[in-house]
Amino acid sequence: MKRILIDTDIGVDDALAVLFALKSPELLVEAITTVSGNVHVEQCTRNLRITLGCMNLEELPLISQGEEAPLTMPLVTSAHVHGSDGLGGISGDLAPDGTRLYPELECPLSPISAVDTITDLVNRYPDELILVPVGPLTNIAKAMLNSPAVMRRVREIVLMGGVFEIYGNVTTQAEFNIYADPQAAQVVFNFGVPITMMPLDVTHQVVLTRERLDAEANRRNTRLIQFLRDSTQACMVYHQEREGVKGLYMHDPLAIGYLLQPDYFDVVDAYVQVETLGDLTQGRTVGNLRAQRASRAPNARVCVEVDAERFLRFFFDCVVS
Ligand code: BDR
Ligand code: CA
Repeated sequence: MKRILIDTDIGVDDALAVLFALKSPELLVEAITTVSGNVHVEQCTRNLRITLGCMNLEELPLISQGEEAPLTMPLVTSAHVHGSDGLGGISGDLAPDGTRLYPELECPLSPISAVDTITDLVNRYPDELILVPVGPLTNIAKAMLNSPAVMRRVREIVLMGGVFEIYGNVTTQAEFNIYADPQAAQVVFNFGVPITMMPLDVTHQVVLTRERLDAEANRRNTRLIQFLRDSTQACMVYHQEREGVKGLYMHDPLAIGYLLQPDYFDVVDAYVQVETLGDLTQGRTVGNLRAQRASRAPNARVCVEVDAERFLRFFFDCVVS
């Protein structure tokens, strides 16, 4: 059993990651913290409650709201990809009786900030808690800056972010989570706890198509399945129209997949730094993935290949069960 904390700017693929983790008996999700990214953090917290409302959970993780803005830069969002509400526009959908189709789960929000929640939990579970950030790294970096001694006891960070040998998805050079707060990312990469990263190079290998989702969804007709269909619809259309991709990249669920099935992935060690200054290259993750030419001791394990079909099979067996 792995004890984890998910830190999320919950948009469409983040919601899939949250469902995947909460449905996995091998993971103990202690807390889910929110951070501004895909949309503003207050909307992220609403999205988390909507996502949790689609599940019949007996026990809820701790929920804590995080940072509103990056460490030093103005907030950038990706509402054009995830919809203005971050969930493909479904948060306002109505049922035939006029009630909200996807209401927020009424559950308590922690009175303490995400940053304090992170340090509290690391304190409670030293050398055990795994952090899984799938949004900008603002909360994690702040926890490291505020409480370095505590944060040295993080067991591992498994994050979605970065890009190495293909184009980025915000600029040609940068992936969104790192681009949105490069200063925070640099703090995290320089901190010295073990990091495994899921860059675009690997997440672009796994596309969830409408046909696949429909085929899997036909196995069950639950509220959760309906949520999967509805929340992904607009994002799939965006990818088709703007990038010619027939579906949705499974960015954030892959971080959860790595925790559960590391054998599905090929990983290389690298020394990774973040470009924080470049006018044209802000947010670029820089690292030499060809081990024989490495000049510095590695600070990260970078996932470079995944068995996409095995991953999707495993994801659906877990989520549609
Ligand atoms: C990342 O950015 C977000 O839009 C996604 O949720 C994912 O975490 C992909 O670049
Ligand atoms: Ca995300």
